Amino acid sequence: MGTYEEQSMSSSIEKAKGVKDILPPDEPYWELVEEAAKKTARDFDFFRISTPIFEKTDLFLRGVGKRTDLVAKEMYSFKTKGDDALTLRPEGTAPVMRAYIENGMKSLAQPVKLFYIEPFFRHERPQHLRQRQFYQVGFETLGFGSSVIDAELIQAATHILRRIGLEGFEFQVNTLGDASCRPSYMKKLQEYLKDNKKSLCLDCQESMVRRPFNVFECQEEKCARIARMAPKMIDELCEPCHSHFRELLEMLDEIEVPYTLNPFIVRGLDYYTRTVFEIWLSVEGEPSGMRALGGGGRYDGLAAELGGGEIPGSGFALGVERLIRVIKNQGLVPPQHKEREKSIFLAQLGFAARKRSLKLFSELMREGIHASAAFSRESLSSQLRIADKLGVEYALILGEKELFDKSIILRNMKTGNQEILEMRNLIAELKNRLSPFSTKLFRPI
Ligand code: HAM
Repeated sequence: MGTYEEQSMSSSIEKAKGVKDILPPDEPYWELVEEAAKKTARDFDFFRISTPIFEKTDLFLRGVGKRTDLVAKEMYSFKTKGDDALTLRPEGTAPVMRAYIENGMKSLAQPVKLFYIEPFFRHERPQHLRQRQFYQVGFETLGFGSSVIDAELIQAATHILRRIGLEGFEFQVNTLGDASCRPSYMKKLQEYLKDNKKSLCLDCQESMVRRPFNVFECQEEKCARIARMAPKMIDELCEPCHSHFRELLEMLDEIEVPYTLNPFIVRGLDYYTRTVFEIWLSVEGEPSGMRALGGGGRYDGLAAELGGGEIPGSGFALGVERLIRVIKNQGLVPPQHKEREKSIFLAQLGFAARKRSLKLFSELMREGIHASAAFSRESLSSQLRIADKLGVEYALILGEKELFDKSIILRNMKTGNQEILEMRNLIAELKNRLSPFSTKLFRPI
């Protein structure tokens, strides 16, 4: 069997633009990421949540913000036959907050800690590492405003990345203040940009009043020059925001997380307050937007925007496709799933034996002996060829005669020696031969 690429054929129907099939050779990579996320969730007491793939459009208009690029340009929105305005979710934080409010999670012990591994949809210009359907691993902590939560989330993200085995990542950390200190700062920034309007690119000139933060993310050198000299939020914080941020940095120092203070991290979504961060890989030459493996921050005002009152929140999301690309680039080899390693092949000859083999296959599994089989093949030689390719130690062969005698043939695949076992002793015999320390014996299902 060749690779998928070698065998690809042109087909009359192709997938839509900006999406990808996730094919079997990538399965171990997805498992590696999912396992690292799930294990970390268990260690840090996060529980899994899954919200619907589509939501009322209003959730994102109010939650993420009408003027953000995400909402203004990138949403897959549609009207249903019943005239409901719906949107394929472009991100997970607003839906999780909606679910928290709607399901009365405020009455649970706070904070409520939730995680998700889900697909999201953004109508972006398709390019390398920007897909229109992509997956995120997200962690959200709702109902608690303290800086220790932000530190704990950054610690959890670090655990996921270290568990995967990634190296060279760094948190870029900033604060965006809150409703008491940000508005006056924004005015100051707008004034500054107005004074320097002529030196900005057309895009930044255009968004100067609506979204003055854009200048911090602009890739144009002339805008970067203006951005470097611009007033920064960190210098204009009110006292509570200042101590919140100072405490966070002290905790990050304590837990030895690799981080850099970066006043240019402003994030593209409106719900952020105070702490914001992105996770970058220290790879030279890639624009920062593409370097981001993930991002997150605090969103203390989001619940009020959704009509849910005062519910502080904080979280992060990692892009799974981007993680997998880095895993491959760093040459990390994900372990094959243990259950895929088989030491026994079950071969059959004739319809009655095939029927019995199907049952035997499950019986073996119940005893923790996972076999391979090729029920679709009829000839013994083709089945044994497959067994050979799989590299199993033994093949069990069941034919009409053995069925009649209540026996089965055990073939040593290395030596070719064959012996006849009584069916009733089969499990005990196999367990005897497979060392109890062998990874080929599994917990019974
Ligand atoms: P975000 O920065 O928009 O944040 O997305 C998080 C990560 O998802 C990005 O860093 C990137 O790795 C991945 N990602 C985003 N868009 C794409 C795309 N088009 N193709 C491939 N990967 C992509 C959020 O979504 C926030 N909800 C994160 C958060 C959680 N904040 C608080 N809690």
